[in-house]
Amino acid sequence: MACRICGAHTRSILDLGESPPANALLSTPETEPRSFPLVLELCDDCGNLQLRDCLDAEDLYRDYLYVTPDSQLLRHHYEQLHAHLAEGDYIRPDSFVLEVGSNVGMLLRFLQSRTRKVLGIDPAANICKLAQDAGIETMCDFFAPASAERIRAQHGAPDLIVARHCMAHNADPHVMIAAAAALLDDTGHLVIENAYGLNTVENNELDQIYHEHMFYFTIRSMRALLAKHGMHLASVLMSPVHGGSVVFVAKKTRPTDVPDASVALYAEREDRLMKGATYERFAANVRELKEQLRALVGDLNAEHKSVWTYGATAKGNTLLNYVGFTRDDIEYCVDSTPLKQGKFLPKSGIRVVSEEHALENPPDYFLLTAWNYKDEIIGKVRAAGNNRSRFIIPVPHVHIV
Ligand code: TYD
Repeated sequence: MACRICGAHTRSILDLGESPPANALLSTPETEPRSFPLVLELCDDCGNLQLRDCLDAEDLYRDYLYVTPDSQLLRHHYEQLHAHLAEGDYIRPDSFVLEVGSNVGMLLRFLQSRTRKVLGIDPAANICKLAQDAGIETMCDFFAPASAERIRAQHGAPDLIVARHCMAHNADPHVMIAAAAALLDDTGHLVIENAYGLNTVENNELDQIYHEHMFYFTIRSMRALLAKHGMHLASVLMSPVHGGSVVFVAKKTRPTDVPDASVALYAEREDRLMKGATYERFAANVRELKEQLRALVGDLNAEHKSVWTYGATAKGNTLLNYVGFTRDDIEYCVDSTPLKQGKFLPKSGIRVVSEEHALENPPDYFLLTAWNYKDEIIGKVRAAGNNRSRFIIPVPHVHIV
């Protein structure tokens, strides 16, 4: 099919079969959710990695269950992100910051005391309400040229637009970039944070692939996308969030611009590491990981060991459904999000319970489906007195800690 960034012909590099939308938790385990193909494609021309089949954004995001967790890792990340942005002079105490896909406003709450003005925009009505209740002004809409125009009319041009983990969430990546380009002045910056395509393929993170993640951005593909809107990269930062994320800082291209050295440095590394063989190895490793996980949990079940999952994550649902696990293999899923508790994971039908529930009756093993919070979750479980449960970490290779 056609590359959604540059229009060239793409080729399929990984097929994970069919899965339901990963955040669509169910009220009853018997409900049979609709499943859609998860096929990853590569554009050899611009390096774009994209999902072949994209679902409608209205269906995915208007009523949403994902709430940014209040986590130590994230609080630390906000500090590092702020330090990076302040150092590059992308954010100042007198800045107006707009966050796109602002969810419950966790980052904006952090930035509120450090900048002049903050504003969020998010399409999920239930989530916007939570942000507004927490005192963060939030527009309930998709970020697109029309909503950008309203923001400019009501609030003026932001100095900084931040889009964390939402830029890959729409089938047409040009809409949000066009909106940002229209809204920013020449001196303004756009920060895009996303799971990094290089980490995804290098670390066998098959579970990053789900319907909300329609793109797996790299420096090469992001440059191609920005160039179509008269923008370019000013700097690049790597972060540990979501198992390895990239932070792109972009701006409108002016002849006098001198990009930070990080752009060339990371771009060279990426060119070296992302070759045809990288994708073939990724696909082979993913197939092997499936067999290993199936065999391990099968053996544990045969020994009457209890196995639960930790983290009702979107990632986890890709993994469980790709491997083919159901509640016959895995009894419960533990998650700290009240909105998710009491619901059932799509297709596998596994019931989501609270962390307190897991402490009362700890299983022998947790399959850590929120492996990106590995240290934090294991530390928390041990500190709460559970020294019994062992953790199965699925990526980059199946192992037990
Ligand atoms: P996240 O990694 O953001 O997942 P994804 O983007 O794949 O959906 O989600 C982390 C999940 O883990 C979230 O539902 C909350 C849960 N969680 C806990 O249950 N306990 C914890 O200590 C932490 C940090 C997260």
